[in-house]
Amino acid sequence: MTGISTDDVFSPSLGTKLLQKRGIKYFLLINPNLFSCARINQTAREIFELCNGTNSLEDISKILSNKYGIDLERLRKDVVQTTELLYSYGLLVRPNDPNPIPQDMFRVGNLEEVWINVTNKCNLHCLTCFKNAGTKYPRELTVEEIESLVKEISSNFHHLTVIISGGEPTLREDLIHILKVIKDNMLKVHLITNGTLLTRSMISEWKSIGVDFVQVSLDGSKPEVNDVIRGEGIFQQVVNNVKLLKEFDLRFSLYPTICKLNLEDVPNMIKLFSEITGRSRFSAAFFAPVGRGSINEGDLAVSSDDYIELFKRIIKDKRLSPMMRNLEGFESQIDRVPPNLTRKLNCGLGTATISIDADGSVYPCHWLHLPQYKAGNIRERRFSELYFKSEVLQRLRGIRVDKLENCAECEIRYLCGGGCRALALIKNGSLEARFPYCDFFKFYFDHALWGVWDL
Ligand SMILES: C[S@@+](CC[C@H](N)C(=O)[O-])C[C@H]1O[C@@H](n2cnc3c(N)ncnc32)[C@H](O)[C@@H]1O
Ligand code: SF4
Ligand code: SF4
Repeated sequence: MTGISTDDVFSPSLGTKLLQKRGIKYFLLINPNLFSCARINQTAREIFELCNGTNSLEDISKILSNKYGIDLERLRKDVVQTTELLYSYGLLVRPNDPNPIPQDMFRVGNLEEVWINVTNKCNLHCLTCFKNAGTKYPRELTVEEIESLVKEISSNFHHLTVIISGGEPTLREDLIHILKVIKDNMLKVHLITNGTLLTRSMISEWKSIGVDFVQVSLDGSKPEVNDVIRGEGIFQQVVNNVKLLKEFDLRFSLYPTICKLNLEDVPNMIKLFSEITGRSRFSAAFFAPVGRGSINEGDLAVSSDDYIELFKRIIKDKRLSPMMRNLEGFESQIDRVPPNLTRKLNCGLGTATISIDADGSVYPCHWLHLPQYKAGNIRERRFSELYFKSEVLQRLRGIRVDKLENCAECEIRYLCGGGCRALALIKNGSLEARFPYCDFFKFYFDHALWGVWDL
């Protein structure tokens, strides 16, 4: 027992409420202020309801023991265990305890991923491409510049992943050197590629230097879907090439961007991609109408309702729904309701995530490569100075879900974090505007919290 005695009296913390849903056999205790949440059974519900600020745990044990004719000793144990758990989640408090403070529960100030676009050059011309990639910039970062950037990042930040993207990174002849520098500096590296140029010797080198993860873009389960977006013959090329990743036992995923042209194909993608990769987890990107994606937005944009309809179809399919529990970005939240829950104040732009373009410009995220959000250039100022001192990044860090007009009262605000702020800007005009997929997030989290995919 962690400091809890049977003489102690508990009551719900400020804002905690009990929810019930028809057809579901357990209950949800939720405190939106914290965000804390627990799924509980009927017994735990009774214990919670008897924690009314008057009954001690001993009183509660006796009440329930009399009511159900269960041995008092056994009940006492159950009552203490349940109370301890709910107390540790901040859902119950003792009279003299301060109410748990939400801010204490958030991870703030950690840089988790730095995107480095190593080139803007690309051999494909995808309809969606948010980078509008194709042509190399006149003065892209040299391997020496990337090396000193990586060293600086490694000496100032820890437990961070470098995401190598572009353009198409495999077009850089010195890519292996870049990857090696990252690994030599003890950072994780995650590579995003269109998968068309993979060779046996390339993959063998990646394996030997310890590349942590390879994300291969594929936008359909068949050529008729993928090749409309990515180009003629690309589907077959990628499917053939990823066999090498499998052969060398590199961790990899096939990763689509969901847009109108492949929305209907998502269930097929889930099946095929898990067969090819052997992974039970399906990840996908929301289509962002940025770059070439904005030029083609009319043909590509997907609404919140489209996503909801898609999810309803997937949930109905028992073979597919377990993978939905692992949809990227949500997995940590729903794998286990507390204590594993990640609480968020925002999507992490400019704090957890930074994106560096191939010319050295630093931005708060890969979808916000816009002049007004440029923090500076690593050719002019050290990366860590930009990260900590840039006026733009500091301003963005002030964006918090509990201060956004649309989100301040939302029950799942600290779970959702207010959605992607770049998409709010692009679709609705400001970084503080409504997240365009808000309805879908509400639908998704509702299902996740009620454990619909656990049944
Ligand atoms: C710009 S690409 C660069 C790396 C590489 N060339 C590739 O295609 O994988 C990085 C990722 O963004 C995805 N992507 C492209 N256009 C997008 C868009 N409009 N919205 C969201 N993701 C997009 C790609 O599918 C890929 O997974
Ligand atoms: S999405 Fe990737 S492969 Fe497609 S054009 Fe953009 S950079 Fe090239
Ligand atoms: S985006 Fe929607 S679901 Fe997320 S916190 Fe805001 S209101 Fe809630």
